[in-house]
Amino acid sequence: MESLEIKNKLKELKKNNIAIIGHMGAGKSIVAKILAKKIDIQHIDSDHEITRFTMKSINKIFQEKGEKHFRNIETNIVLKLIEKKNVILSLGGGSILSGLIRNKLKKKSITLFLDVSLLELEKRLIKSTNRPLLKNVDLAEKVKELDIARRKYYSRSDIIINNTNSPIDACKNFIKKFAYFHEKTNINKN
Ligand code: S3P
Repeated sequence: MESLEIKNKLKELKKNNIAIIGHMGAGKSIVAKILAKKIDIQHIDSDHEITRFTMKSINKIFQEKGEKHFRNIETNIVLKLIEKKNVILSLGGGSILSGLIRNKLKKKSITLFLDVSLLELEKRLIKSTNRPLLKNVDLAEKVKELDIARRKYYSRSDIIINNTNSPIDACKNFIKKFAYFHEKTNINKN
């Protein structure tokens, strides 16, 4: 399937957007950006929308009002984003902790889980300064803890791609797997 065909195929499916999920550092935003360009559809990043809406950085929201408050804002914003058609969404790593978001994703979005080895995640996250959950923690422990809590949700995705090596390859693999997903879903419809 040509990447530009995906745009039309998306309209045929019951699920009309693509939502990229996975751990912090999995490369969700970069893969979403590349795919959006290839497919020629809009990319929206949930953290970017949260920052735009609150006019505060994610760090600042956590610092001033804590994680629970951040999750409430995140849930409201992500639930609205999932309603959108013909877009690629990159969602914050913790957004799938909300049952409301998980249910809506199941109905409205083709979910793409970007899987990356925990060792590679640690390498990527070691220099991260804009992720409040990683402040003053043992990074290896935290990555493991988050993986235990979240992998079960990530791995229920429609499409799973390994993004340990290269985001360009991840995009190519997605396009192949999307064709298969589309075929399977259309067969099931008839
Ligand atoms: C979070 C992930 C972050 C951001 C916030 C919390 C998480 O987004 O939403 O710092 O709980 O995993 P990225 O996954 O884009 O880093």
